Amino acid sequence: MIRTKNISFSYEEYENTEELNKDDRELVLIARETALNAYAPYSKFRVGAAIRLESGIIVCGANVENAAFPSGICAERSAISNVVSNHHNDKPTTIAIAALTEDGMTDETISPCGNCRQVIAEEESRSENKIRIILAGKNKTQVIDSISSLLPLQFNKMNLKVNLP
Ligand code: THU
Repeated sequence: MIRTKNISFSYEEYENTEELNKDDRELVLIARETALNAYAPYSKFRVGAAIRLESGIIVCGANVENAAFPSGICAERSAISNVVSNHHNDKPTTIAIAALTEDGMTDETISPCGNCRQVIAEEESRSENKIRIILAGKNKTQVIDSISSLLPLQFNKMNLKVNLP
């Protein structure tokens, strides 16, 4: 028998970042500033990610492209690598993501690519903590509770049936 299942999710949408709470506003601002540090000579699409940790520390990452295209890394994975390398036991609580084109901040929000979704999912499971995701455009800001909404039916360590430390 075929059973049709339905997946839906809710998220918050704001017209203006001014409507966010103070901590989230700060995180968006830092993501936007970090986008200025991107190395994106090929796409000219600069992305910044800022991650707030439980301790209050904010860790950033920008996209870093390469002439050998697949060697480039997105802002989100750049920021998460920094968290794991330098703040190993401090749990990420929120990630803000913003992008700049040659015309300035994108009007619309940008959403993490498939690779980054998978890595954010791994970071949620590594830190045993849900990570809120703030997608910040000029005209719109979206707040999502967890990567599970953007990556439903995800593959994770449970599928490997291994007990990792
Ligand atoms: N990019 C990110 O850094 N994050 C995203 O969420 C989407 C795309 C980067 C990858 C590449 O350097 C450029 O944006 C264009 O795809």
